[in-house]
Amino acid sequence: MNNIKFRKLAIGLSIIIYLIFWPLSELNAENSPKIHFTIDPYLQNASQNSIAICWKGSNEHTALVRYNLIQLSSVIEKKINESNQFHCANITGLHPQNEYRYEVILNESGYNYVGTFKTLADSDSSKIFFNVIGDTRDDLETYKKIADLASSTKPDFVLHLGDLTENEGTLKDWEDFFNAGKSLLSQAPIFPVLGNHDESDKYFDFFNIPNNKTWYSFNSGPVHFAAVDTYFSAYAPGSPQYEWLEKDLLSTKKPWKIVFMHAPPYGSAGTTIEVRDALCPLFEKVGVHLVLSGHDHLYQRSIVNGINYVVSGGGGSALANPIPGAETVALVKKHHFLKIEATEKTIQLSAIDIEGKEIDSFRLNLSSPQTPSISPKYYLCESFIYKFYSPGIDIRILPDSIKLPFFTLFKNFTIKYCSSKN
Ligand SMILES: [Fe+2]
Repeated sequence: MNNIKFRKLAIGLSIIIYLIFWPLSELNAENSPKIHFTIDPYLQNASQNSIAICWKGSNEHTALVRYNLIQLSSVIEKKINESNQFHCANITGLHPQNEYRYEVILNESGYNYVGTFKTLADSDSSKIFFNVIGDTRDDLETYKKIADLASSTKPDFVLHLGDLTENEGTLKDWEDFFNAGKSLLSQAPIFPVLGNHDESDKYFDFFNIPNNKTWYSFNSGPVHFAAVDTYFSAYAPGSPQYEWLEKDLLSTKKPWKIVFMHAPPYGSAGTTIEVRDALCPLFEKVGVHLVLSGHDHLYQRSIVNGINYVVSGGGGSALANPIPGAETVALVKKHHFLKIEATEKTIQLSAIDIEGKEIDSFRLNLSSPQTPSISPKYYLCESFIYKFYSPGIDIRILPDSIKLPFFTLFKNFTIKYCSSKN
């Protein structure tokens, strides 16, 4: 009798277990072979009339791209027939500064991704708004927070100042880079430059750089942008890149000229004297208004001969020790990104930290672009030991907002200690 009861109980339990796990096993069996995105669609190589939408699938696949002009509600489809894992749909014939909705559908599985993008502006009278981010590299969690925050500001496009991935970038590193930053990169086309950690052929696998060179330029609204390679191509006077850059910056008719590159001519530990000596005289000669660099993992702004040099390497990597130079007017050791709005007459830059707070801002007026709008300030956040100017001289900063008369002998600025809470 006991045996019969035990057998009934065992059979009953078996049926229950089967009923519980059967649907799950069927679901897994159904989903496991399905092709999905391993890199969600991201935007690049944008112009006034074109853009590239790129993605990577988990296996070879075909896809369909749809996009429409919102104002006209006309739907355009582009079929991608090549059967490999990585695809780019190059879309042409678009209108300047128009917003488009797009959708990428993986034919074999039906997986889809929906986003929007905006083409670049053509007219000098157009107002443009873009983000700047640098040195995302290895801390994906921090980078994702910065990217999500930047994404919420809805930029037209984003400049990346180099060191996108860590240690030359394995395929997994690149998948992590695009996926951690997807909220930003799926809505704002990226314009990158090479950093010293980007020495990978995969850079060109994932980016369609204009002219297939590591230096390039483009226009958006009233601004001419020039991307300079400071690591893998010669840039000194007489080099092909220098010759190109000089001609490029002299020939543009745009009201504003912005140069972006990885190595900072004026920064903290990463200051690159060779770049300063080779390129800054050219920037002054041709009238560059703003130079954006990365490499130092912090925010730093210097003004030299009327040009604002901004270091913005706070996109994710471990923060660096701040070291002001004689030209430094703002210095903040925090993860951050930049918001920049440009019109025909003004450029407004704001540096936003990972908590969404503004840590520096300034406005350039075309009629008087050399005038800084704020007093010099240093924020030595989260740092007690601060190495000042020459090696071997350490100064301990107390955990309060203080003014040190010692410093005022050399320069009129205030040193403020920032705890992690403020
Ligand atoms: Fe770097």
